Amino acid sequence: VGDESMKKMEKKYHTYSSDETKELGRIFAAHLQGGEVVCMYGDLGAGKTTFISGVMDYFLPGRRVLSPTFIIVRHYKVHTPQVKEIVHADLYRMNDVKEISSLGLTDFYSTRGTVVFIEWAERFGSVLPKSRTGITFTVSDKDEREIVIHVYE
Ligand SMILES: Nc1ncnc2c1ncn2[C@@H]1O[C@H](COP(=O)(O)OP(=O)(O)O)[C@@H](O)[C@H]1O
Ligand SMILES: [Mg+2]
Repeated sequence: VGDESMKKMEKKYHTYSSDETKELGRIFAAHLQGGEVVCMYGDLGAGKTTFISGVMDYFLPGRRVLSPTFIIVRHYKVHTPQVKEIVHADLYRMNDVKEISSLGLTDFYSTRGTVVFIEWAERFGSVLPKSRTGITFTVSDKDEREIVIHVYE
């Protein structure tokens, strides 16, 4: 309820292939200012990693993005005037808030030039920053995804 009242904007998209989701990721990336925390929600296979691979393709063209499921957090140095680093975390295998806190993700929250992407952000519970971007992925059909981007302030 609290989140609703602080919602600044919401945009809804439909993609019909993984390439379209990647393209949406590229477009999203082009708007980043640095300092954002992007929380990604949705089931396995909903398209979170695909979207982030589009983001990385914008910053580091040709670089393959691996799902960080086993490594949990990956860091990428990037080179644009505003964004210098991407942190990509996947909390799928994390079980409790303590374990998640030990990752030190919050250290990156207010770092200028760093953008943090968190897959399975629902596992992060209370440790999410108030001002953040949420992206919710829903499987509508085999190749169709509904992607809702919401900004909280
Ligand atoms: N419109 C679409 N957008 C994104 N992925 C899609 C789409 N249609 C089919 N897919 C497939 O769904 C899967 C998405 O996987 P992934 O991005 O790893 O999901 P997540 O990270 O949410 O678990 C991929 O196999 C991809 O090819
Ligand atoms: Mg994933």
